[in-house]
Amino acid sequence: MGRLCESCFDQLSGLLAVICYTYAVDKHKLGIIGCGWFAPFHVKALRQLSDRVEVVWAADPNPARAASVAASIGAHPLADYRAGLGDVDTVDILVPHHLHHPIAVDCLNAGKHVLLEKPIARTLNEADDIIAAADRSVKTFMVALPHRYRPSIKLLKQAIESGGYGRLFMLDAMMDESLQAYTTVDWISHKATLGGGVFFSSSPHMLDPMLWIGGDVIPGSCAMVGTHGGVSMEGEDSAFSVFKFSSGVIATTRHTWASPRSQTWYTLIATCERGRLTLTTTPLGDLASEGAHCAWRTRLSASGANDQVLLDNDEGLDIIYEMTHFFDCIDTNTIPATDGRTARQIIELVLSAYAK
Ligand SMILES: NC(=O)c1ccc[n+]([C@@H]2O[C@H](COP(=O)([O-])OP(=O)(O)OC[C@H]3O[C@@H](n4cnc5c(N)ncnc54)[C@H](O)[C@@H]3O)[C@@H](O)[C@H]2O)c1
Repeated sequence: MGRLCESCFDQLSGLLAVICYTYAVDKHKLGIIGCGWFAPFHVKALRQLSDRVEVVWAADPNPARAASVAASIGAHPLADYRAGLGDVDTVDILVPHHLHHPIAVDCLNAGKHVLLEKPIARTLNEADDIIAAADRSVKTFMVALPHRYRPSIKLLKQAIESGGYGRLFMLDAMMDESLQAYTTVDWISHKATLGGGVFFSSSPHMLDPMLWIGGDVIPGSCAMVGTHGGVSMEGEDSAFSVFKFSSGVIATTRHTWASPRSQTWYTLIATCERGRLTLTTTPLGDLASEGAHCAWRTRLSASGANDQVLLDNDEGLDIIYEMTHFFDCIDTNTIPATDGRTARQIIELVLSAYAK
């Protein structure tokens, strides 16, 4: 076999070095902060984005959790995220809600791009502080409100806006979850650390796409009632809400963590004058125990003059769409669709309903 001459070798290795260097600097270096139940969902998406991001470390004060999440993505474990901030340009924060504010502000002040799990914070003051830190940092700050980024919800919005079903006048969301085991975690069971009950913690999954579709809500129009369906937590485990958009559209959310047996995870219905659009997302296994491995079926159907299935896929609780948007925003210096101000509107709506 022939050998490369010395100058060819030098040129080739120089080229390789340039490629490797470019590749390495183009990749974001990311730290995961919080390695609990939801971390494997983030890991799954980050693995899919391995051409754009390298996960350098995974931090959690619980050493077994940090080790397990770090090992699942070839990163190293840390007990304290602060020890790793100098090695990354981006952090992914998924910690208990009372820690969203101090950790997000700390990371923004350290000049990192931040993806923060929902909700932005427990109070408007905490949210304002995070927004101010994000503005000062001039880095990308996004709250992980995943549903508006999904193909199904994008298509639902497009179908409404196409006008083909007539004017929208009602939005109705139902989330039916069996989270009896999940809610035994200490911070989830206390209002002070969760921020409220199910309406505060989880109904924003439906409120965010509803506000994205419906526009401005009439201030003060949101009312909610909550109850306890047997889940051991201080805040309500089940909640109904109603509110009205400036456009005249009325909306309702129904949500329980106390479902005796969840079959359809969520159902979002948009009723228009000439047709009804129904979006369902159904776990095909046991979400609580299977976590990120659970298989899903998502369907969007239209009924009216012509009944048809508009979408049928397996997107479920996959967060690849939100993650892709986050890295696109960093790379193009664009404000994320769910930035701090958008995420603040959701907790403002929820807290106004609690205050009534
Ligand atoms: N988008 C969704 O569908 C979805 C689903 C579940 C949870 N979440 C969100 O994800 C976040 C985490 O929820 P979870 O279910 O994984 O909770 P969890 O209790 O299972 O995990 C939280 C982890 O954070 C760790 N932690 C505490 N203090 C820390 C610190 N200073 N540094 C690093 N880690 C620390 C805890 O030890 C724990 O392992 C919450 O904001 C929650 O609302 C989102």
